[in-house]
Amino acid sequence: MAKKHPEGYLTAKEARKISKANRKITNELEKKRKRKNVPESEYVTEMKNPENAVEFDDLHTYFFTDAGTVKSVDGVSFEVPIGKTVGVVGESGCGKSVTSLSLMQLLQRPHGQILSGAIRLNLGDKVYDIAKTPQEAMQKIRGNQVSMIFQEPMTSLNPVFRIGEQIEEVIELHDGEGKTKEDIKARCIELLEQVGIANSEGVYNMYPHELSGGMRQRIVIAMALACNPKVIIADEPTTALDVTIQAQILDLLRNLKDKINSSIMLITHDLGVIAEMADYVVVMYAGRVVEKGTAEDIFEHPSHPYTIGLMASKPVVGKQVDELYSIPGKVPNPINMPNYCYFKDRCDKCIEACNGEYPCEISLSETHKVSCYRYYDQKEGK
Ligand SMILES: Nc1ncnc2c1ncn2[C@@H]1O[C@H](COP(=O)(O)OP(=O)(O)O)[C@@H](O)[C@H]1O
Ligand SMILES: [Mg+2]
Repeated sequence: MAKKHPEGYLTAKEARKISKANRKITNELEKKRKRKNVPESEYVTEMKNPENAVEFDDLHTYFFTDAGTVKSVDGVSFEVPIGKTVGVVGESGCGKSVTSLSLMQLLQRPHGQILSGAIRLNLGDKVYDIAKTPQEAMQKIRGNQVSMIFQEPMTSLNPVFRIGEQIEEVIELHDGEGKTKEDIKARCIELLEQVGIANSEGVYNMYPHELSGGMRQRIVIAMALACNPKVIIADEPTTALDVTIQAQILDLLRNLKDKINSSIMLITHDLGVIAEMADYVVVMYAGRVVEKGTAEDIFEHPSHPYTIGLMASKPVVGKQVDELYSIPGKVPNPINMPNYCYFKDRCDKCIEACNGEYPCEISLSETHKVSCYRYYDQKEGK
């Protein structure tokens, strides 16, 4: 690349070359995904542990853009046990959403692709590897077995249809076999009541714009519950809401969790939300998991300097501070990742060994894992 240009600058010729190379890769992957009548044996697999609902195993999800390959998720592994809530936390741009979109096969295609690794989804009688599942089979899983609640409820609701119609459409599509119109309406009202909407008959006939943000998010949650999914992904479900409503929605999710026995993957940048909800916590940084463990492991014994930084940047009621701590610097550019610990340039706890390549995962206990050179002396305990 010509030196006179600033870093990251590409000439038109270079961009064209990248774009051509990308097309070659993505065309091939697309062709594979769009095949019809793929034998199940290609994507049916076994769970490592049948008590898990989902197992992400060394997942690599890349975006092939004209500026280069964005390694949004670069070797992510963690589990979501059945009936538990797993909190995925990290700054903006760490790859949290891309991880969950990979599980739904909702990546922006063709340039977003799962390159390698597995996502094992436990459907009870069968286990699918979502990374290999063709488009055709995926349509039966999405919404039926896994559903998703997005950050901004208005993006999931259609402004020109009444609430009742929209929820009924979901029920009809996924769970409507043998049901009459009355059955479907009854189920719709039941769902509205389940998500804490008092005036369910009234809301049934309303349009989305007639409801507040909190109410809309409840509607979206009702839609996500419509077909009793095994896994619910909630991607920043409360970020667009104000604080009191946020607390109500979290309460609702927590209550529902006990009733429906689904697993919840809760994605947020807010450790407070995680503290209230999660049984397990996964801390992501720049497309990789830097630390994971039970909520107690992470909150009582945060070990990775990034997790410690996140904890320190959380305001605590009653604690007087002159200035709230913030982690210096920003997440590195995912197109040109360094070949050493991604957090090194922002870390104030580095040791000599940190100049080496990306650290491997160290077991601090049965449940608690961290990728950091400061714990390499505990490597024997693995
Ligand atoms: N459709 C896309 N095309 C190109 N890059 C993307 C796309 N979606 C996400 N990315 C990149 O992937 C990285 C992770 O994004 P994301 O998973 O959305 O982060 P977050 O942790 O905030 O949810 C970011 O660097 C983002 O720029
Ligand atoms: Mg996101």
